[in-house]
Amino acid sequence: MARLSDSSGASDGDEPSGDEPNDNEPGDGAARVSVDGVEKEFPGERGPVRALDGVDLDVADGEFVCLVGPSGCGKTTLLRIIAGLEPPTGGEVRLNGEPVTGPGPDLGVVFQEYHLFPWRTVAGNVAFGLERQGVPEEVRERITSDLIELVGLDGFGGAYPSELSGGMKQRVAIARALAVDPEILLMDEPFGSVDAQTREMLQGELLDVWEETGKTVVFVTHDVEEAVTLADRVVVLAANPGRVREVVAVDLPRPRRRTDEGFVEGVERIRGLIGD
Ligand SMILES: Nc1ncnc2c1ncn2[C@@H]1O[C@H](COP(=O)(O)OP(=O)(O)OP(=O)(O)O)[C@@H](O)[C@H]1O
Ligand SMILES: [Mg+2]
Repeated sequence: MARLSDSSGASDGDEPSGDEPNDNEPGDGAARVSVDGVEKEFPGERGPVRALDGVDLDVADGEFVCLVGPSGCGKTTLLRIIAGLEPPTGGEVRLNGEPVTGPGPDLGVVFQEYHLFPWRTVAGNVAFGLERQGVPEEVRERITSDLIELVGLDGFGGAYPSELSGGMKQRVAIARALAVDPEILLMDEPFGSVDAQTREMLQGELLDVWEETGKTVVFVTHDVEEAVTLADRVVVLAANPGRVREVVAVDLPRPRRRTDEGFVEGVERIRGLIGD
């Protein structure tokens, strides 16, 4: 069953979820992220490359969506277009009903290569967006230390990125993305460069954060098991041209175990779709 939301209106009047647990159901039917007929063509040496060809996708408030697909199918391009870092050559992306025209404060972005500022401490990295927004120092410090605790880096606020492991850097990148309290988190293979054990730990931590904050997450991964561990829905993209192949709903309770029958079935089905 695909839980598709309608792509209408911005006026969902939502409140921060507060003490209400995130029950992982899409909110009230209003799409947070609305991708409508998005096309992207890049100039290439042997003619134009159709990176995305008519991609439609609605992501509901509080939903966790994973994008998977073969290398070159346009996952990063789609995420960059949603983030307003790249204009589409056709179609439109709306966030809460508003067309995206450039990077905005509603979004936090985490890439595979952490992109931390090496000359800033952990706290300085996390506080970066807040400084840019002119948030007063005391408030900044409170938010920063809360987030450092949330991502499990208590005691490392004064450390520099060069003193951290890959997994710790990735936690800093996540805390930094969360600092400005964006409604939507966009993550492009954020755990691609850490070892398997750290990756599983980070997946669990990300799910905890998601459940605590009720953020809407769009998460790109190569790893089908990672997608089935995390997502409410897995969007399988096909390449040449990049398009949505199928959307697979993952109706399994969390935490999910990789050995569960439903989990294994989901993984096999998605692998089949990617491989075809
Ligand atoms: N700036 C660019 N200029 C030209 N072509 C590009 C550019 N960015 C992406 N492409 C092309 O668009 C297609 C999609 O690339 P994209 O990076 O979005 O794929 P992807 O699904 O993220 O791949 P991967 O899984 O390897 O990260 C590819 O054919 C790529 O070569
Ligand atoms: Mg990519």
